[in-house]
Amino acid sequence: MRFFATCAKGTEGALRRELSGLRLPAVRGDRGGVSFEGALEAGMRACLHARTAMRVLLELARFPAPDAAALYEGARAVAWQDWLDVRTTLAVEATVSSTTITHSGFAALKVKDAAVDVLRERLGARPDVDPKDPDVRIVLHLARDEATLSLDLAGAPLHRRGYRAVTTEAPLKETLAAAVLLLGGVDPALPFADPMAGSGTLAIEHALRARRIAPGLDRAFGFQRWPSYRGGPQSAWDRMKAAARAEILPRAPAPIVARDGHPKAIQALRLNAAAAGVEADLEISQADARDLQPSADAGAIVTNPPYGERLGGGGEGASAAEARVAGKKLQGFYRGLAEMLVRHHGWTAVVLSGNPLLERAIPIRPAVDHRLWNGPLEAHLLKYELP
Ligand SMILES: C[S@@+](CC[C@H](N)C(=O)[O-])C[C@H]1O[C@@H](n2cnc3c(N)ncnc32)[C@H](O)[C@@H]1O
Repeated sequence: MRFFATCAKGTEGALRRELSGLRLPAVRGDRGGVSFEGALEAGMRACLHARTAMRVLLELARFPAPDAAALYEGARAVAWQDWLDVRTTLAVEATVSSTTITHSGFAALKVKDAAVDVLRERLGARPDVDPKDPDVRIVLHLARDEATLSLDLAGAPLHRRGYRAVTTEAPLKETLAAAVLLLGGVDPALPFADPMAGSGTLAIEHALRARRIAPGLDRAFGFQRWPSYRGGPQSAWDRMKAAARAEILPRAPAPIVARDGHPKAIQALRLNAAAAGVEADLEISQADARDLQPSADAGAIVTNPPYGERLGGGGEGASAAEARVAGKKLQGFYRGLAEMLVRHHGWTAVVLSGNPLLERAIPIRPAVDHRLWNGPLEAHLLKYELP
């Protein structure tokens, strides 16, 4: 079977390394994700262990679909009865970029019709559609007149690990935070500090990794609702989870500092860390980021500073004079952050920055400058080796 795991744009390298580390066969990076091969267990393993994957798709068919009739016929050729029975609900989700079929809802309808027709013919009855919470989620990707039909193993996207009890402003997705840690080469055995932790995503993801807690251990997955699950896959899944639980370290090997200047963020941080089961691993406190002092000879500062809007107070509707004052204030703040970074001699700093002013304020050239996307926003992962 062929799988395709998706991830945030710019983080494919991190996902490829993770899947190779799981020793999955034929791992190959592509745009927006990574493909691999294997039995259903390979896909389940990716769901359980991959920290940077957003979804894991099992490819069922790939065929030319220059028009709606070809799409319907291609979808009819799939042995849907292998994946659904008359009691399973289904939904079809489509992304299309085609010249002849331009409406994704229409394309999804064609695939749904084909699947339902096949099941009615072969099983004598048709399953129901449940667009909100289906048992089986079918995914159509139609690009350049080629259709790919897949099943979504994860169900709810994998970034929803289940520990985000409270959100603050501009939280990172869990999968993106994990990618920042991997792409930044952060060593889980060394001290860690995020002085602008917000809801704590980077610190929590670091703690999960440091304690070898698999990201999918405590959530439900789409494949568990597939009719075929109760055969072999269920016991394979139970064994996989038991093996993953046996790997967990009782505590993180080095201190993990998570601070923020805002009391609401501290509240969210504590609740989220507790929900993730890593509260005891985190040293949480309210403080100004610029006051952070080195707590050891080496370690990593990993942080995602504010982009500017909240700090500067400028934003839309601000006059030119107000915007100038806001810009100056932001530059001053970034200079303070740069001073804090450079006094961490011997440390590594990994900064996810959405504002070029920050890079300009740091008087050292980054060893790594990697472009990635935080949703629709372009950001730079900057890695500094602090002398
Ligand atoms: C972009 S958010 C970080 C989001 C975080 N990575 C998450 O996933 O939730 C930036 C954070 O910096 C904090 N912050 C702004 N100025 C600060 C300062 N001077 N000292 C400490 N924290 C500050 C804000 O409260 C906010 O939580």
